[in-house]
Amino acid sequence: MCGIVGYAGKEKTVPTLIDGLKRLEYRGYDSAGIAVISENNLVVKKAAGKVSDLEAMTRNLTGIKSAVGIAHTRWATHGEPNEVNAHPHVDCTGRIGIVHNGIIENYKALKTYLEDRGHRFVSKTDTEVIAHLIEEFMKKEGATFMDAFIETAQAIKGSYAIAAVSLSDPGTIYATHLSSPLVIGQGNGENFIASDASPFLGRASKIIYLPENEIAVVAAAGIKTFDLDKRKKDPVFEKFEGTLESIQKGNFPHFMLKEIYEQPERIEDAFRGRLLLQEGNAFLGGLSPVWDKLLKAKRFVISACGTSWHAALVGKYMFEEIARVPTEVDYASELRYRNPILGPDDVVFVISQSGETADTLATLREAKKRGATVLGIVNVVGSTIAREAGVGVYIHAGPEIGVASTKTFTSQLAVLTLITLAIGRGKGMSKEKGKFIASEINSLPEKARRALGTENLVREIARTFKDSRNFLYLGRGANFPTALEGALKLKEISYIHAEGYPVAEMKHGPIALIDENMPVVFVVPKDGIYEKVLSNMEEVKARKGRIIAIANEDDEYIDSLADFVIRVPRTLGWLGPIVNVIPLQLLAYHIALELGRLIDQPRNLAKSVTVE
Ligand code: M6R
Repeated sequence: MCGIVGYAGKEKTVPTLIDGLKRLEYRGYDSAGIAVISENNLVVKKAAGKVSDLEAMTRNLTGIKSAVGIAHTRWATHGEPNEVNAHPHVDCTGRIGIVHNGIIENYKALKTYLEDRGHRFVSKTDTEVIAHLIEEFMKKEGATFMDAFIETAQAIKGSYAIAAVSLSDPGTIYATHLSSPLVIGQGNGENFIASDASPFLGRASKIIYLPENEIAVVAAAGIKTFDLDKRKKDPVFEKFEGTLESIQKGNFPHFMLKEIYEQPERIEDAFRGRLLLQEGNAFLGGLSPVWDKLLKAKRFVISACGTSWHAALVGKYMFEEIARVPTEVDYASELRYRNPILGPDDVVFVISQSGETADTLATLREAKKRGATVLGIVNVVGSTIAREAGVGVYIHAGPEIGVASTKTFTSQLAVLTLITLAIGRGKGMSKEKGKFIASEINSLPEKARRALGTENLVREIARTFKDSRNFLYLGRGANFPTALEGALKLKEISYIHAEGYPVAEMKHGPIALIDENMPVVFVVPKDGIYEKVLSNMEEVKARKGRIIAIANEDDEYIDSLADFVIRVPRTLGWLGPIVNVIPLQLLAYHIALELGRLIDQPRNLAKSVTVE
């Protein structure tokens, strides 16, 4: 939540920062601001609303002479989203500007301490204390900006990525972080800091993942890093090869639609070089260091949040049914605070698109502390969870910009299918069965492509139901999480209330909601429990509920029960969610489109949830 960017270089600083903010806007979009140093002035501009509002406000600064600046796009935690609370925040003298992503937990005590020393606060944020603390520590005899910055980093508690500029050192950005991401990009005569690498795509060739509690001193001429004792460190420069195309919408009106349509290719990417058709097996290099532990584990635990948690729940069905390993699935936010029973016999998988989700990261740390083997299933390369897990698998879905996760869900599932097959074989599954499963897995990209062919019908269904105030999504087995995911997508981007339930649970409560105004979405593939689901559909029909069915192409019976049938290719039950979820993503998208919602940036949400 919140995106920060800093630039030191010879190019136009304001447009560079605004462009960087646009690329980080998925992290928060309720207000934005910029601070640049120009001719010995700290010029600060802030706007409530989107980065485009800030851009309009700073148009007259486009050509301003400036070689260093910082900027911020906000997702409010402390203080409502308005201009005053927007970052950058400045000290009393207006000579120090800072941007911050995270939460300063001890800000109240620090604020009192600073107010007692005469500092005046203007915002309701936790962040403003940082600017005043630097100012206060600068008053110490002989203190440099670096000394004051380090002392500030030692005084604050919580999670933070901070960048600061000051008129006392006008060509330099100082940055540090703890439990919030921060990366540094090295370009040609220009250098960057940012919450992720997107602001310097196309301009930096090397990247540094700054270790936590280190200080980066970034100027156009170079990058230096230090520990909190001011000892110089040797930063590790890694090659940076992202493409601009991956963060552009292309011909699609929204990132979400682009990402939905990318799914067949991204699933292929997840399989590439890993799915071994001839051997009926899968090989994931990232699992090698813990392979024995995986085979001997008494129990798997999968922990995640949001959509990644839904993927985890599908993973349970996969691991138990095919790999035959008892598996528990836990919300990361719950697991971390309930004294979990975890130990050396357990393997804990943490799943995260961003690799930065605060609760998932805390779970990872807790599991490690308790001696469990921890594996990450992550999208963002070099993210904190990926690095701290040390062992794991990248899903290779590429940047996901739409706040609602789509392609990363199916790519997470794609990786889980491979892990399932590999463990299944490792535990004695026959080669023949392995080959059959591998070939079914291999058919998933093509089946996902066919599922995208339902879009015209889905658009018509969206128009029919766009004014409904509630939806029920029902699925069974591995498609119970599919139902949960369909409901979450609708809630997130259309703001229509939706609930996901296991089909058979309907009669234990939700059935009371059903009348002629209630659309009920059934995920009803022709698998082992198909007949049972049909009976539940009858129960809805008897109460005049409107039924939308996600059913298989060869299902001839379903039309007699459903008002609308969306047909997708058939696959094995436990692989079904990868295909069945696609029309549900499209349904949420088209309903939100009909309602004129901000699809890629739904209200109150942020892509990367780095606060608890
Ligand atoms: O980056 P993560 O996968 O750890 O994020 C977890 C959730 O915040 C995320 O899945 C969220 O629920 C999405 N907005 C869902 O579309």
